[in-house]
Amino acid sequence: MKILAFESSCDETAAAVVEDGRKILSDAIASQAEMHALYGGVVPEIASRRHVEAIAALTERALAEANCTREDIDAVAVTYAPGLIGAVLVGLSFAKSLAYAWGVPLIPVHHVRGHIAANYLAFPDLVEPPFLALAISGGNTLIADVRDYTDIRILGATRDDAAGECFDKAARVLGLPYPGGKPMDELARQSRGGVYALPHARVTGAELDMSFSGLKTAVVNLAHHAQQVGEPLDRAALARDFTEAVSAELVPRAIRALEITGYRKLAAAGGVAANTIIRAHLQVSCDARGCRLFLPPLSLCGDNGAMIGAQGYYEFLAGHTAGKELNACATRSLESPPP
Ligand code: KG4
Repeated sequence: MKILAFESSCDETAAAVVEDGRKILSDAIASQAEMHALYGGVVPEIASRRHVEAIAALTERALAEANCTREDIDAVAVTYAPGLIGAVLVGLSFAKSLAYAWGVPLIPVHHVRGHIAANYLAFPDLVEPPFLALAISGGNTLIADVRDYTDIRILGATRDDAAGECFDKAARVLGLPYPGGKPMDELARQSRGGVYALPHARVTGAELDMSFSGLKTAVVNLAHHAQQVGEPLDRAALARDFTEAVSAELVPRAIRALEITGYRKLAAAGGVAANTIIRAHLQVSCDARGCRLFLPPLSLCGDNGAMIGAQGYYEFLAGHTAGKELNACATRSLESPPP
């Protein structure tokens, strides 16, 4: 089954063709990051307009690169939630129109379910539910029990900021360009750290829940204070200490979740899963417990259309298609079906 899939929840317009949820036939992406870098973050109105400009040509590219015509496409999948509402609506309206015009099913896909499904594309013969997923992106940070392809339960999540949001804000005060995750990663690798004492959040009530806002504020205050009193700032050491602090929030909780569930497979997902230091810590911790860690290639960690096509296939098999009334949601739990 060939699915044409769309993703437009933030600042990447993406269209892809995926076969049977496991094989990428094409994965076309138009990033707007350069435009938003001018403003130090995503400007929602600009994002929506850029999606409108890009999506039709990108669809033609995805079909051509997959060697497909519209007759080859069996269904259309699209991110319906969560994300910037105007941005999600562009992809959703476009996908809905195509499904209607071509007379094929429309499959709504939750964005974070899509991130997790990137593992089906990266490891087509190895990753099958049940497994544990650590989804860490710009808008979401959570640990999920993937009981089945469409039966996913949140075991723990951030109580405030997502890890990626925290990386982007910390990068900004260190004078790095948006999106800050990758430049922070490069800067952090230049230092061994151990210079700055950063706070470790104590989240009460749920041992797998996380918090990043205190850490973000601490880095911002540290940088501003150094600037105000004219103290030199060891930017590489701060980037390293910050990354280690984020990792210390994520990795022990993911390992604890493995212990609680008894699973021996952990799959990472989302843009922050591209971080080389966090990847290394996850690997060491999983190896120490004899657990198998799945780390998708960097190209499948960030937003892409193929991951939506992969999850879309399993949503379709579960009978989760949508009618013409399908609407977009800015927020929606990955546990819930589309409204
Ligand atoms: O998954 P993604 O592309 O979009 C969302 O669904 O949110 O994640 C984007 C986030 C941004 O905050 C970006 O700075 C971060 O992922 N990111 C990284 C790295 N590469 C991207 N964070 C840390 N280290 C990286 N190497």
